[in-house]
Amino acid sequence: MSMNSFGHLFRVTTWGESHGPALGATVDGCPPGVPITPDMLQHWLDKRRPGQNKNTTQRQEPDAVKILSGVFEGQSTGTPIQLMIENTDQRSKDYGDISETFRPGHADITYWQKYGIRDYRGGGRSSARETAARVAAGGIAREAIKAIAPNLEITGYMTAMGEMEIDRSRFDWEAIDQNDFWIPDAGAVQEWENYLQALRKSHNSVGGIVEVVARNVPAGIGAPVYGKLDTDLAAAMMSINAVKGVEIGEGMAAARLTGTDNADEIFMGEHGPEYGSNHAGGILGGISTGQDVVVRFAVKPTSSILSPRKSIRKDGTPIEVVTKGRHDPCVGIRAVPVGEAMMACVILDHLLLHRGQVGENRGKIG
Ligand SMILES: Cc1cc2nc3c(=O)[nH]c(=O)nc-3n(C[C@H](O)[C@H](O)[C@H](O)COP(=O)(O)O)c2cc1C
Repeated sequence: MSMNSFGHLFRVTTWGESHGPALGATVDGCPPGVPITPDMLQHWLDKRRPGQNKNTTQRQEPDAVKILSGVFEGQSTGTPIQLMIENTDQRSKDYGDISETFRPGHADITYWQKYGIRDYRGGGRSSARETAARVAAGGIAREAIKAIAPNLEITGYMTAMGEMEIDRSRFDWEAIDQNDFWIPDAGAVQEWENYLQALRKSHNSVGGIVEVVARNVPAGIGAPVYGKLDTDLAAAMMSINAVKGVEIGEGMAAARLTGTDNADEIFMGEHGPEYGSNHAGGILGGISTGQDVVVRFAVKPTSSILSPRKSIRKDGTPIEVVTKGRHDPCVGIRAVPVGEAMMACVILDHLLLHRGQVGENRGKIG
């Protein structure tokens, strides 16, 4: 069954396993003439790359991307773009003892029950190494977006990690790229680091919340009912490993608001409609309003921890699992660039769909 692809016009298929020779993405539907070089994609892959600081895994994976097709003299040709990333830091011995056991919190048990065969090394296809391929595809989407909506910007950051939560009154866009946690508050970094390092030392891990914002999205992208922009964004974010919840705008908190609090009031501005607030997360009826598109997702705590957890072997006998290997104490940190990539792919897909069906927005206001 073909369950490894997403997108309508900008279609991404990822392939490969954690400990195979390589993994990658086939990107079909990229418009021609988009400037693409390996360096442009590497910039985003380096954001996701492990082994860069003490707050993420110490695995060293260069994640060097090769472009095998679809790009000629530095520009997309409109034909499928094949991206490949070789796996170089595989330590299969770290995983030898999981061939017969199921690690709690991992896909070992469900892959085995369903398929009766699995590449257990590093989680195989369920490994988050797969997200490197998404990030490379997202790099292409970002370049293609520039030609259609040049001011559109996509930025992800963490808003919470266990007991840590950002103080929105101190929100600083400039701080995000300057710290290991991608948080918008330089003053909070030390506290977050102390908290995470204490958890790591006690052989534990923690979850996190990631927010991804797309600014300067033109009004009108998205579609009614089954093609809603929010439907596709939610599916895209939920498909990221370890994501257990997705919200758009006010999200779950909207259930506790009244109508007077929640409906964003509309005013006529100098250049078109303006909104008094953005509880909707920039989307009404599945179609963008022109406000920031805001998506938030919850990432569960890393399941691979050095603390023993009860489980069973393939033969049904009980076992205590201690997962060795080099793991992220909070996978939410490295999920930030992955969320950005998924946002880029979905937004580009909808920009292309909009251009195909409608071209310019038809309804005039003012
Ligand atoms: C960027 C990223 C890195 C991850 N690294 C690890 C890791 O080092 N150890 C681990 O146990 N899980 C890690 N995960 C999560 C697992 O891949 C995921 O929990 C597992 O495949 C089971 O899938 P599910 O949680 O979506 O059900 C990571 C997830 C992401 C997004």
